[in-house]
Amino acid sequence: MLPRRPSCSATTALISLGSLLLLVCGLWLLVTIFWLQAPSNSVPHRAPPPRGSPGTEPQACGVVPEAWRFDCYPERGVVVTRELCEARNCCFIPASSSPPALGRNGVPWCFYPPGFPSYSLVSVNATDLGQTGTLVKTVKTYYPKDILTLQLGLLYETDNRLRVRITDPSESRFEVPIAVPKATEKASSPAYSVELSNEPFGIIVKRTSTGAVLLNTTVAPLFYCDQFLQLSSSLSSQYIYGLGEHRSSFLHDIHWNTLTMWARDVAPTELTNLYGVHPFYLAMDEGGTGTAHGFFLLNSNAMDVVLQPGPAITWRTIGGILDFYVFLGPDPTSVIGQYLEVVGYPAMPVYWALGYHLCRWGYGSSNATWDVVKNMRNYGIPQDVQWNDIDYMDRSLDFTFDPTAFSTLPDMVKDLHSHGQRYVMMLDPGISSVQPEGGYWPYDEGLRRGVFINHTDGSTLIGKVWPGLTAFPDFSDDVTHEWWYDNLKRFHDKVPFDGLWIDMNEPSSFVDGSTVGCPDTELENPPYTPGILGGLLRAKTLCASAVQKTSSHYNMHSLYGLLEAKASCPEAYVRKRAFVISRSTFPSQGQYSGHWLGDNRSHWKDMYTSIAGMLTFNLLGVPLVGADICGFSEQTEEELCVRWTQLGAFYPFTRNHNSIDQKPQDPPAFSPAARSAMKQSLLLRSSLFPLLYTLFHRAHTHGHTVARPLLFEFPKDVRTYGIDRQFLWGKSLMVTPVLDPGVDYVVGYFPQGLWYDYYTGDSIRSKGEELRLKAPLEHINLHLREGAVIPTQRPNTTLFVSSGQPLHLVSSLSEDGSAGGELFWDDGETGSTNTITFTSSLPIASYITVETASFYGVKMEPTRVMVNSHDAAFTYRANQVRLGVRSQRLSVF
Ligand SMILES: *[C@@H]1O[C@H](CO)[C@@H](O)[C@H](O)[C@H]1NC(C)=O
Ligand SMILES: *[C@@H]1O[C@H](CO)[C@@H](O)[C@H](O)[C@H]1NC(C)=O
Ligand SMILES: *[C@@H]1O[C@H](CO)[C@@H](O)[C@H](O)[C@H]1NC(C)=O
Ligand SMILES: *[C@@H]1O[C@H](CO)[C@@H](O)[C@H](O)[C@H]1NC(C)=O
Ligand SMILES: *[C@@H]1O[C@H](CO)[C@@H](O)[C@H](O)[C@H]1NC(C)=O
Ligand SMILES: *[C@@H]1O[C@H](CO)[C@@H](O)[C@H](O)[C@H]1NC(C)=O
Repeated sequence: MLPRRPSCSATTALISLGSLLLLVCGLWLLVTIFWLQAPSNSVPHRAPPPRGSPGTEPQACGVVPEAWRFDCYPERGVVVTRELCEARNCCFIPASSSPPALGRNGVPWCFYPPGFPSYSLVSVNATDLGQTGTLVKTVKTYYPKDILTLQLGLLYETDNRLRVRITDPSESRFEVPIAVPKATEKASSPAYSVELSNEPFGIIVKRTSTGAVLLNTTVAPLFYCDQFLQLSSSLSSQYIYGLGEHRSSFLHDIHWNTLTMWARDVAPTELTNLYGVHPFYLAMDEGGTGTAHGFFLLNSNAMDVVLQPGPAITWRTIGGILDFYVFLGPDPTSVIGQYLEVVGYPAMPVYWALGYHLCRWGYGSSNATWDVVKNMRNYGIPQDVQWNDIDYMDRSLDFTFDPTAFSTLPDMVKDLHSHGQRYVMMLDPGISSVQPEGGYWPYDEGLRRGVFINHTDGSTLIGKVWPGLTAFPDFSDDVTHEWWYDNLKRFHDKVPFDGLWIDMNEPSSFVDGSTVGCPDTELENPPYTPGILGGLLRAKTLCASAVQKTSSHYNMHSLYGLLEAKASCPEAYVRKRAFVISRSTFPSQGQYSGHWLGDNRSHWKDMYTSIAGMLTFNLLGVPLVGADICGFSEQTEEELCVRWTQLGAFYPFTRNHNSIDQKPQDPPAFSPAARSAMKQSLLLRSSLFPLLYTLFHRAHTHGHTVARPLLFEFPKDVRTYGIDRQFLWGKSLMVTPVLDPGVDYVVGYFPQGLWYDYYTGDSIRSKGEELRLKAPLEHINLHLREGAVIPTQRPNTTLFVSSGQPLHLVSSLSEDGSAGGELFWDDGETGSTNTITFTSSLPIASYITVETASFYGVKMEPTRVMVNSHDAAFTYRANQVRLGVRSQRLSVF
């Protein structure tokens, strides 16, 4: 059943009210607090050297400034002594800095001296796309299997995109199996220039227009051994973002900060590798010019990414090749667009994906789940989707439901559908290998079709997950996709679910490697292991040596969630847009799924870090992202849950999810005042659906962000660079949530310009300053930037209903009285669409109509207002004109 929705359009509405004067803004209390990134203390993770061993250092060592010391002894759990260090021909100088913070590498005490053996560039020839060169080295390193001759490829793919590949010319090595564009001709006027240093070999990339150095890899030796590849570069500034998935501030700390990447199931914790892997960063150029660039290392192996105050970065990976891209921007939005041109733009979500989702682990029965839905309806609180965690399953088996406690599940799903609501349930990749009575089709058929990951000896690898012993589907094999689809279809015939929640897909296992351990091989015990939690590649996952169709699990591990997501939205099964939310993610994920941050705890701090997580995933091309509203584990409190629901109403993906054994945290579970505040914020979200949907279309077609950091819109304002307590939706709608308990105000930064209170139209003219805003419990601060037209809609309890309602346009006039905006509209599910573009006036069409409009910033009371040459009824309150228009005057389609 489809909602009554228009057949579509991408439109631009530009509304100009001519020369209206501007109201002098009512000023809020000004608070001048300069916000700086807190200096981090750093602490070496290794023990200090024995006292009294200062020794005399070779002169060359002493000249290397601390900020530029590149770690020669990154191994963990080793006390690095002068002896060990010098055995690597490195410099040993105990650092002068004060004790560093726990878990971070401080200034390395053992570092490469100038002139440490590296590769030399011995020949360079032109190619169709750029240049090719040969790198050689004569001295082996202290890691096994140095590759002494390398091939360098410089590919000038587009004017804004450089690709560099360093490969082994004698043997093909593992390359990440995701499709990237193939350039056919060399960029004609690149925005970058490349200089090659011969001895030692290095690449210097500059922005042609400013001369800014974006990359300089001569700063430290290049390593290219079979299982240890390392590339360092200067960074052009300390402002670096991305590098997910980690729990941190949005702006990374460059004070000896090691970010390890290897997909891992663990409650989000600082300085720990988490569920997803994204070796991409966006950085601002030097000098505060507002220009930005990006860097993407196309590599899926376990790696460390080390940030140090040089500013500099080191990529240390244990496999694959060095294959990287530099994106020239020049503005942050273009950098993301250029990155997503390589890994793929995010999918356009089905309309109800943008509604309110409700979930918990431990409803216990379908009737209890259903009661929650009915209760939400009784209170008139918006809800679009009901979810179930694994407790719906029969003995935790995928593709089953508990025949007693969840016997009414199919009826509940039918009831949801008849109310314009949807149903999503969890699936885990682990397939029970213990035969329940009567056999278990997914496993039996999986074995028949050979879909499971094996040990090196060819036997099925068995781990342990919720149902007990499990085999793991190899989603790198097309045969597995067919088998997965058949399972989905068989289950869908019983329970007509609408989307999938794919969890535990790091893949997570409760045993290390397998129930019988792992063989002792180079893949299991590489010469260097990045700083992954548990210290072993196989910690709480499969053996690194395990066999998948495409390659070993050593290479494929962090791609598991991506490939499962891909299998979970086969075109055959979804002629409509698929809905998948995945825990583990990898570049290009946005094409197949969204992500929830797995943010586990019901703490104020988790609510705050969710903003950085949301913004980071928007940079990474997975805009459909959000954290568990009110917190997953531990008991939430009413005030926290209200504030979190207000913030969550502005997550692109809005789901309240709770753990088993915790008290209910769905809106009806709270006091009338809290419930009403939550309801208001969800209705507000629903009223903003036309804007949100339009932003997603921009993400889908141009690689734009949906939830957007302030720095993207104000890149010349350095004070926006560290902001992760506020964010924008698109260009113009600024959200300033309360993130602290017991307060009725919030301090937010307003970049220079004219801003309007979204609810009242009161204006603020900011010089670029922090303002203190009133924020009683029922209020979330929203401000419209000058010059915007925002499409909104009368809200209702489902998007199914509200998306058929007339539009209300909100315009925030700039000083010259102009404003512009756009609206994308289609049927919401299949994407059948044609495109209308218009400026300066609204077009006439049939389906969706504009019923009313508000104009903020109208200084004088008008005597007459005309819409498309017809008089329109209007009201005027100080600063604000509100129009009521007859719908045929402003019908959009
Ligand atoms: C470049 O060309 C020279 C001369 O033809 C050849 O000897 C050399 O191998 C080539 N180098 C590369 C990296 O292709
Ligand atoms: C690149 O780095 C090297 C080593 O630190 C330095 O000598 C050189 O000046 C740098 N080049 C540029 C263009 O910054
Ligand atoms: C669920 O509710 C239905 C309808 O009220 C009832 O018939 C059924 O017994 C209930 N199921 C369970 C497991 O309580
Ligand atoms: C695992 O072994 C089975 C049985 O020999 C085989 O059919 C299947 O293709 C193997 N899977 C992989 C990923 O090699
Ligand atoms: C953290 O949350 C994730 C996602 O909901 C869950 O799978 C995991 O078990 C949780 N861990 C803890 C310690 O609660
Ligand atoms: C939703 O629409 C129905 C039918 O038009 C109306 O009765 C109801 O009041 C609306 N609900 C809200 C929350 O506006």
